[in-house]
Amino acid sequence: MSFAKAQDLIRLARLAATRRTGIGLDEICEEFGVSHRTAQRMTDALASDGYGLTENMEEADLVLLNTCHIREKAAEKVYSELGRIRKLKEERAVDGHELLIGVTGCVAQAEGREILRRAPAVDLVVGSQTYHRLPSVVQRARAGEKIVETDYAVEDKFEHLPQPARSVVRHRGVTAFLTVQEGCDKFCTFCVVPYTRGSEISRPVSQIVAEAERLAEAGVREVTLLGQNVNAWHGEGPSGKEWGLGELLFRLAEIPGLARLRYTTSHPRDMSDALIRAHRDLPQLMPYLHLPVQAGSDRILKAMNRKHTAEDYLRLIERIREARPDIALSGDFIVGFPGETDEDFDDTMRLIREVNYAQAFSFKYSPRPGTPGAGMSNHVAETVKDERLQELQALLTEQQRAFARSLVGTEMDVLVEKPGREAGQIVGRSPWLQPVVIDAELGDIGDIIRVRIGNAGSNSLFAESMNPHIPMREGLV
Ligand code: 5AD
Ligand code: SF4
Repeated sequence: MSFAKAQDLIRLARLAATRRTGIGLDEICEEFGVSHRTAQRMTDALASDGYGLTENMEEADLVLLNTCHIREKAAEKVYSELGRIRKLKEERAVDGHELLIGVTGCVAQAEGREILRRAPAVDLVVGSQTYHRLPSVVQRARAGEKIVETDYAVEDKFEHLPQPARSVVRHRGVTAFLTVQEGCDKFCTFCVVPYTRGSEISRPVSQIVAEAERLAEAGVREVTLLGQNVNAWHGEGPSGKEWGLGELLFRLAEIPGLARLRYTTSHPRDMSDALIRAHRDLPQLMPYLHLPVQAGSDRILKAMNRKHTAEDYLRLIERIREARPDIALSGDFIVGFPGETDEDFDDTMRLIREVNYAQAFSFKYSPRPGTPGAGMSNHVAETVKDERLQELQALLTEQQRAFARSLVGTEMDVLVEKPGREAGQIVGRSPWLQPVVIDAELGDIGDIIRVRIGNAGSNSLFAESMNPHIPMREGLV
């Protein structure tokens, strides 16, 4: 389980844009923990106005503070970060340069105009629904206007998704995200997404297929379909009949060059028969599924408004595993939801043992203003949440390690993504999303190569070296 990754998700992210320099988006993302998808969208939207990414905040003309609500006390942290950026703005002004400050994402959506009131140095506030308006907002801000854009877009916002140039796609690498769905109608009682992202909207089949074809033509080998509730995606197919995600995956699998398909994040209620069939019949659909259950107690699941029981979830997993026996499961868990007793928590631990996860993200419940959970009376003490989280994470870590160990000695196909950290190495992904370190001699970026796993580290797998001069990295699990 990549807890570091889970924390990245909730970290404040900073994206600096400048007209002068351009560097790889991945580096920025890894450095600041920006969600790739959002950062890509924002940079794509601004690229036509001559903005490129810079590593160096000091030389930026525009700093966007991209924010996520999942983080505790997110708004307060945004204000303290803004204090720091304001100082930078003042220093730049002394040198005769103008630095614009923008706040984007969930906190921008939720706080809106309040941000300008509390942090007057901010020039623009753009909510999570309105990234496509960034270029015009930035232009107006440059002309001196203070702007707050947090209205939900009534028009089809997918039509406004910026199309990255082919050269940009190639530079980004051989894997890509493709948004097919946004928003959520499930209203889990702990979650802000239905309020900040609005109700479910699906992108039409024709648009998705066209974008996937463009990506494939530009050299992308693996596409991950994205949506807050991706398996609730539905759209009109070519013959007028409505398609679900299963049918869409069958169609995308026909695109030449696209060797791997993935999708995330799914809700157990929306795992249709066609989607399970896609797992059975499509070799391109990778055997890895992120299917959050959140808790293992029916009482808590009901209070969370998850609309399924633990038994429903377990039977579903059974059916998915029947269809695709080598599938690895990943999930999200919340400990300490209001009213959670020791017995409820034990139910969660039991469910985890029964499923046996390859990877998972876990969180202490934290009340989100405006959600039903926040108004519940029986909140769990922080110390109890801490203990439960530790216990749960220890089990999940052990399961993740056992999964990695079980792959040592087996052969698998790896999609090579980038050069390794050390000379003579390349790094790819296993079908189960683990990084695999390989001798550079064995293949090139974009290749799918068959390797035998020689060793498993805490986060990566190491392919058997064909070259005796290249040492294996240590770090046995
Ligand atoms: N408290 C803790 N975790 C939460 N998540 C969403 N809202 C909250 C909250 N209020 C977690 C869920 C979700 C993941 C993206 O974040 O597990 O699946
Ligand atoms: Fe939030 Fe996911 Fe529940 Fe929707 S399904 S409300 S996004 S946790």
